[in-house]
Amino acid sequence: MTGTDAWTGKTVLIVGAAGGIGSATARAYHERRASLALADRDLRKLQSLNRELGNRHALLETDIRRPDACKRMIEGAIAAHGRLDILINAAGVWVEGPSETMTEEQWDRTLDINLKGTFFACRHAIPYLERTGGQIVNIASDAGLMGNAGAAVYCASKGGVVLLTKALALELAPRGVRVNAICPCDVDTPMLAFQATEFGGGDPEGYLARLKAIYPQGPRTRFATADEIAAFILAVAGLAPVTGAALPIDFGTTAGR
Ligand SMILES: NC(=O)c1ccc[n+]([C@@H]2O[C@H](COP(=O)([O-])OP(=O)(O)OC[C@H]3O[C@@H](n4cnc5c(N)ncnc54)[C@H](O)[C@@H]3O)[C@@H](O)[C@H]2O)c1
Repeated sequence: MTGTDAWTGKTVLIVGAAGGIGSATARAYHERRASLALADRDLRKLQSLNRELGNRHALLETDIRRPDACKRMIEGAIAAHGRLDILINAAGVWVEGPSETMTEEQWDRTLDINLKGTFFACRHAIPYLERTGGQIVNIASDAGLMGNAGAAVYCASKGGVVLLTKALALELAPRGVRVNAICPCDVDTPMLAFQATEFGGGDPEGYLARLKAIYPQGPRTRFATADEIAAFILAVAGLAPVTGAALPIDFGTTAGR
């Protein structure tokens, strides 16, 4: 499925569509003429994205921390477009800091959004995806494939997404539904800017430089772009044999030392 209109008549629900990766993915599917349902807790950003895309798509203001909200989100996508072919879970939050300083609130917020919200979006989408032979793409992280010192809570959430993806892929394969996880390294999005500002100790540039130091490209190191992640999502979604995979897109940072 590589043609520009390969997704005509198909419905893609993007959760976290107001974010960097979500909005780049929305633009990519919009260009391929898919019908989109765009979900996020930030309605104003969703509206702005939809204006850019010609106001053609359904908007679903949703806080995925609540399972009943996930259910309404899926039902809203079906009400808008009548079918669901792809669910892309791209909502998420970052948290870091020494584990002995982490609070229950930080744990709950991170796990509720990154893991619980992802699960309940999947859970409520299953019957509709079964009807279309559809699929799920979860945005996990390189931090779901390897430990990241100082980010135990985030790693726990993304490691959960990776194994949730594999278990769901096995469960749903006999029913014709594929499930994959994408595991990016640092991506140049508002989340990365937030990380640098919030956790950079007043030196966001230094924070970003420390991140770049782990990449094997040396002076050629750069961060991935949201458009590159979107292109990867489209490629994975278009390849029938790919399911149960947790696929790095990370300049080799998880390949070893
Ligand atoms: N940017 C990176 O470096 C990076 C690297 C690896 C993985 N990821 C993952 O990719 C995904 C997308 O990240 P991004 O970089 O686009 O971040 P982003 O901050 O640009 O976008 C995240 C979006 O999630 C939404 N969101 C947060 N909590 C929500 C909730 N409770 N309900 C509904 N929506 C909610 C936000 O409003 C935002 O629009 C996340 O899961 C993130 O963990 C990002």
